[in-house]
Amino acid sequence: MQRLIITMDGPAGSGKSTVARQLAARLGVEFLDTGAMYRGLTALCVDQGVDPEAEPSQAAALAADAHLHFDWSQDPPRLYVNDRDVNHRLRDTDVTSRVSALASIGEVRKVLVAAQQRIGEAHPRLVTEGRDQGSVVFPNACVKFYLDAEPPVRARRRADQLRALGREANEADILDQLVQRDERDAARKTGPLTCPEDAHKLDTTNMTLDAVVDYCEQYVRQQVDPEVGCVRSAGGASGGAT
Ligand code: DC
Repeated sequence: MQRLIITMDGPAGSGKSTVARQLAARLGVEFLDTGAMYRGLTALCVDQGVDPEAEPSQAAALAADAHLHFDWSQDPPRLYVNDRDVNHRLRDTDVTSRVSALASIGEVRKVLVAAQQRIGEAHPRLVTEGRDQGSVVFPNACVKFYLDAEPPVRARRRADQLRALGREANEADILDQLVQRDERDAARKTGPLTCPEDAHKLDTTNMTLDAVVDYCEQYVRQQVDPEVGCVRSAGGASGGAT
């Protein structure tokens, strides 16, 4: 079967994680959450007492030495950093508040972009979500989406997600953090949050999750037969799997 890389980029709370995961299930392909990789490395920094904002070169050194690995038998795939299961840390406030600083370090991005491209080689039928998947990591992806929604709606979705995990969530605080994070993610020099020119842009403000997944599935099936895959090369490096 041919490779089938579908990218799903957009800001926090645009719904891309949930949509990407459900779309992957409907198409019978794998799902990659690249935000989890940035969060996993941030958790590593925090737990080792390194502040990515104040000590970017120490954070970059930790990232360069870290071994990131997904257990692909789990749905969604579980992330291990240096063989430690970090999934319980990914949404913690101390990680969320620092992840954008880590994601703006060029050397860290280089490490993770290369790791994601290796994953794309080892798992060539993939819906991958993040900020730079269609623009930097997989510029030749078969289908590219860019999801967006108005900030208050995105904040409400994030709050609902946290409450579903049994966490407390203050929507006003989440909105503030989300707007700050968007600004920072869009302003950074390497791999900024951006809508690739050839991406299909979708405003999900007034759409239910099911409607977005239905729409994306239909759009993909119009463009390509998922059973056959996409003949466009997905771009990226070759090398070992992670
Ligand atoms: O999607 P998320 O909220 O889990 O992403 C966490 C942070 O990581 C966010 O600040 C943006 C950053 N990120 C990134 O810069 N590039 C990606 N491909 C994925 C996430």
